[in-house]
Amino acid sequence: MRYPSRVSIVEVGPRDGLQNEATGVSTADKIAFVDLLSAAGHGTIEVSAFVSPRWVPQMADAADVFAAISRHPGTRYSALVPNLAGLERARQSGLTEIAVFAAASETFSRRNINQGIETSLDIYGQVCARALDLGMRVRGYVSTAFGCPFEGVVPISKVVAVSEALVKMGAAEISVSDTIGIAHPGQVPGVVAAVAERISIERVALHFHDTRGAALANVLAAMEMGVSVFDASAGGLGGCPYAPGATGNVATEDLIYMLDGLGIETGVDLEALLEASRFIESRIDHPLPSRFYRATMAHHR
Ligand code: HMG
Ligand code: MG
Repeated sequence: MRYPSRVSIVEVGPRDGLQNEATGVSTADKIAFVDLLSAAGHGTIEVSAFVSPRWVPQMADAADVFAAISRHPGTRYSALVPNLAGLERARQSGLTEIAVFAAASETFSRRNINQGIETSLDIYGQVCARALDLGMRVRGYVSTAFGCPFEGVVPISKVVAVSEALVKMGAAEISVSDTIGIAHPGQVPGVVAAVAERISIERVALHFHDTRGAALANVLAAMEMGVSVFDASAGGLGGCPYAPGATGNVATEDLIYMLDGLGIETGVDLEALLEASRFIESRIDHPLPSRFYRATMAHHR
């Protein structure tokens, strides 16, 4: 069993986490949260989303957040972009990295972005072309890669086709996403192997929600296949407003605890990360689900 010696974590808490919080977190608190995450040594932070404020009001202040965060030299800052209007907003905010987000199932695509997969790929083709012209790095998400809340089983061939389409239009990395936290370690190798047949494994990232508690086991299964980029959210914040019952991403603390134990480097300081989680927990209306976080807080009481 060979694991990578280093894993890159993409911290999605400020976006995937806060997009789903019912209590409005203020812009100032979002900025403070991102700054704490930068201070913890994160290499990549997905800060917000330049999506329609009608669809996701929680992300309406993306430009204000980007205007005030402290950008650390070793950190890349990114945001979701659904269309050319979003790309223009991202450009005005000085972004050099964006993410487009497609789905492997038709119904989820329509619920999430009000368009089918083909239409979304046409639009993302235009977004990517323009983003590459502007010198931006583009990441591509493929939602519902392990199952769809509306359609159930999603054929692996769809996951591969959408991933490949996004790479062809210039995405540097594909985040194969378990939107509803339904993946298990028996399923992960098959999906990763099929995607890696068409896309080099260095470009493959995995995005696990922890709805059924299998996210860490899924990370192990993916590392065995050679994957070394994982999305996670501080404290396990998160969900997706268009995926009923979806809960947070794998918690960054839980992931780092496991990786530290395996001697795998992440560059993220666990103590400093706990500060960021403690801060954001004080600004939302429920306890954070991260097991590591809860165990540590209980110990400190
Ligand atoms: P639409 O309603 O079909 O598009 O939405 P539209 O062009 O008719 O626009 C509707 C309104 O939004 C218009 O305003 C536009 O101007 C405005 P109005 O004229 O009605 O006042 N608008 C925008 N405003 C600001 N920025 C923009 C923008 N675009 C349009 N970029 C659309 C289509 C794609 C825009 C919409 O459905 C949308 O924004 N969806 C985003 C949904 C979303 O953010 N979902 C959560 C993120 S995805 C996720 O969580 C999954 C992930 O974590 C991976 C995983 O776990 O699977 C990434
Ligand atoms: Mg997600």
